[in-house]
Amino acid sequence: MRLRIYEIADTEEIMKLFYDTVHEVNIHDYTQEQVDAWAPANMDIDVWIKGLGSKFTYVAEEQGKIIGFGELEANGHIDRFYCHKDFQRKGIGKKILKQLELKAKSLKIEKLFTEASITAKPFFESQNFIVVKQQEVERRGQKLINFIMEKSIE
Ligand SMILES: CC(C)(COP(=O)(O)OP(=O)(O)OC[C@H]1O[C@@H](n2cnc3c(N)ncnc32)[C@H](O)[C@@H]1OP(=O)(O)O)[C@@H](O)C(=O)NCCC(=O)NCCS
Repeated sequence: MRLRIYEIADTEEIMKLFYDTVHEVNIHDYTQEQVDAWAPANMDIDVWIKGLGSKFTYVAEEQGKIIGFGELEANGHIDRFYCHKDFQRKGIGKKILKQLELKAKSLKIEKLFTEASITAKPFFESQNFIVVKQQEVERRGQKLINFIMEKSIE
């Protein structure tokens, strides 16, 4: 497995990974209506190119296949963070997070924070993030529970 910076040519594969993971992994913690709103079938590639390209986005790749990705923003916010549905719990999330932490340290960021799904909460807890609060967010008319979590990295 290797980690590298996102390239525009990755976009479609990343969108498919995101869609599949939400629909096949996050579905264990959310309803069908919620995952449909979270990852709709008709996502706009231009919006994704803009989103992925405007952050520090790292891609985990194995034999030419993308098996995970994570986005870091300059303020320490970890935005999208997903592993491939067939590559869950294999230590890939841990490696992507380590890379985001390294990048954050190089940017002199002192605190990482994220809005972790119910599914991802145990992962972030295992990586020493703490829950700041539980919240409900709205996506395309559906209410979803997630957790603001943070970690100091000084
Ligand atoms: C969250 C996610 C990216 C973590 O990636 P991952 O590669 O599966 O996680 P890792 O294998 O690196 O896990 C590292 C440690 O986290 C903990 N952990 C991870 N998933 C866990 C789970 N479902 N339950 C309990 N602990 C978990 C364990 O301590 C694990 O170490 P171990 O396997 O040696 O016990 C991945 O599960 C995922 O894609 N989830 C669905 C998408 C999602 O909700 N993303 C976040 C959006 S906010």
